[in-house]
Amino acid sequence: MEKILAPSILAGNHADLKSALDVAEQDSRKWIHLDIMDGHFVPNLSFGPQTVADLRIGSKLFFDVHLMLSNPYLYIDAFSEAGADLITIHIEPCYDHLKVLEYIRSLGKKVGIALNPGTPVDDILNIINSVKLDLVLCMTVNPGFGGQNFMYDVLSKVEKLAEVREHCSNAYLIEVDGGVGPEHVKPCLEAGVDVFVAGTAYYKRNDAERREFSISVGELF
Ligand code: DX5
Ligand code: ZN
Repeated sequence: MEKILAPSILAGNHADLKSALDVAEQDSRKWIHLDIMDGHFVPNLSFGPQTVADLRIGSKLFFDVHLMLSNPYLYIDAFSEAGADLITIHIEPCYDHLKVLEYIRSLGKKVGIALNPGTPVDDILNIINSVKLDLVLCMTVNPGFGGQNFMYDVLSKVEKLAEVREHCSNAYLIEVDGGVGPEHVKPCLEAGVDVFVAGTAYYKRNDAERREFSISVGELF
């Protein structure tokens, strides 16, 4: 599986998020991670479809949109029209996950499902067996804020997801999101991680350090 370093613009300057995109593009990144928060499912607010639509103009990056929303189905059209390439929804809120995932796919977008650190892989096995997924996101912090500490025990879930993937026709990418830095790359790769979301650890580093980070992930240029 291809390995990807996806900068999270949550860690960028929210008065000038375009500059965070520019850094990623100058670094030849392929993906950008956009965290959408509703202040209800998670205790923070971030930005909405209009911001995504404005960032979409002129950007060739793959928009990996992470919906941390209690009612994501209310916003699928908006983020799809705004230019999301992949839309990830969480398993924890109570709604018809399969219906929403199928709807996202019907719009021609790639689909992901996300698990908070405390949510077991078993909670999404029926989804893995029912719908084609492009990504499974394992939160390695409790969602809401960047700059938290990486939760290593989530890697056992990554290992399980990698094993499940071996025995099913769903070739989903496995993504970690939260507190990820260069020091976590080796254990994450060994567990089976494909996509590394990094906000704080990416944007606080200089050009050379960011390049080192992406090389350690194994991202192809
Ligand atoms: C948490 C967010 C963060 C963000 C990256 O809700 O999803 O994980 O993307 O955060 P840091 O700055 O820890 O890499
Ligand atoms: Zn995220």
